[in-house]
Amino acid sequence: MITQEELATTKISMRYDLSPIRNIIGDLSGLLGNFSDELIGAFYPKTVSKKANIVITELVNNAVVNSPEGDGKITLEIMINKDLLKISVTNEAKRSQYRKVKDHIEMINSAGDLRKLLADTIRERRKDRLRGGLGLIRLAAENKFTLAARYRAPYLIVDSQIGLGGLS
Ligand SMILES: Nc1ncnc2c1ncn2[C@@H]1O[C@H](COP(=O)(O)OP(=O)(O)O)[C@@H](O)[C@H]1O
Ligand SMILES: [Mg+2]
Repeated sequence: MITQEELATTKISMRYDLSPIRNIIGDLSGLLGNFSDELIGAFYPKTVSKKANIVITELVNNAVVNSPEGDGKITLEIMINKDLLKISVTNEAKRSQYRKVKDHIEMINSAGDLRKLLADTIRERRKDRLRGGLGLIRLAAENKFTLAARYRAPYLIVDSQIGLGGLS
């Protein structure tokens, strides 16, 4: 009999390329999140697959809503092994968009207290009646993911990862 512990050492990697972006009309981020959740959940505990779902849904949604309409593509890459869950999402973006995301992620990574950053951001945005701007902070604050952004013109790549040492 194979044990749960052994199952949770399975190496899995997945990659999805979707184009053209103008054909993406359904809930692609939810679909990819749920699908990956099921596959990862067949080997790893629900606590792990649920986290993958949340991050995939958020990052793919960011890629879809911030991509220029047209022929461009979106790429989702997922890798999991006993030590690490890694999720990367690539979309077309202007250099100025990359800078915005990079600055935002740097701000998150340099925050000493992520829960306070989340609470302060919610308060500030409510005051100014602003929407959004919480997704990436949430991934770091509530789901303990490390974030990074890279630019390979014309593509922005957002990388996120979490160690599974204490999780599974
Ligand atoms: N994949 C991406 N491509 C281009 N811009 C992005 C991407 N992801 C995030 N951004 C920019 O960074 C901002 C912050 O993202 P996020 O924390 O997810 O907040 P929200 O999506 O709720 O606005 C977004 O409003 C958007 O301007
Ligand atoms: Mg978002």
